[in-house]
Amino acid sequence: MMNDIERVLFNEECLKNAVNEIGRKISSDYRDKNLLMVSILKGSVVFMSDLIRAISIHCMVDFMCVSSYGSGPKTSGVVKILKDLDIEIAGYDVLIVEDILDSGITLSYIMELIRARNPASIRICTLFDKPVKRDVAIKLDYKGLEVPDEFIVGYGLDYNEKYRNLRFVGVLKPKIYDKQNRGSL
Ligand code: IMP
Ligand code: MG
Repeated sequence: MMNDIERVLFNEECLKNAVNEIGRKISSDYRDKNLLMVSILKGSVVFMSDLIRAISIHCMVDFMCVSSYGSGPKTSGVVKILKDLDIEIAGYDVLIVEDILDSGITLSYIMELIRARNPASIRICTLFDKPVKRDVAIKLDYKGLEVPDEFIVGYGLDYNEKYRNLRFVGVLKPKIYDKQNRGSL
């Protein structure tokens, strides 16, 4: 698995500091609110599990699963709900927790869907921001680390469902997805 990584972008300590910092801000901002954290599966689970433990106030947790990608490294533009929320969110202060904001297509779709269910408020929290590729303008309320225009994996982020278990975040060697894409043509 390590042979597929070009270089390490963020090590464990760097990720931990970024997550703790976001957790502190959320704990202070939502002190008198009704916080419901919505994790977008599957990429954000590792971030979410560390983030909720960096939060010192009451919070509820729910999950939604959407797919925005085919098997390649680029956004298809098609967003499909694979698992909806369990909790009725009307009246809650919803905080959407994403792994990475790239084109913004996935998050803007999820925002609209959640807004229509009348929460008290909606905010967005993403660990990684890849601003170069943005197609849809989105206000990020909490963000951890900015990433360059490269395909990254680890700490929950995958390529073809693999590499999520890496404890750091690294750049995937382009030959890994070039090889796959050639294979599917
Ligand atoms: P968007 O709709 O283009 O903003 O795509 C967001 C989703 O694409 C994220 O939730 C990730 O699942 C995936 N994604 C975008 N960039 C990367 C990356 O560099 N590595 C792994 N997944 C990515
Ligand atoms: Mg994702």
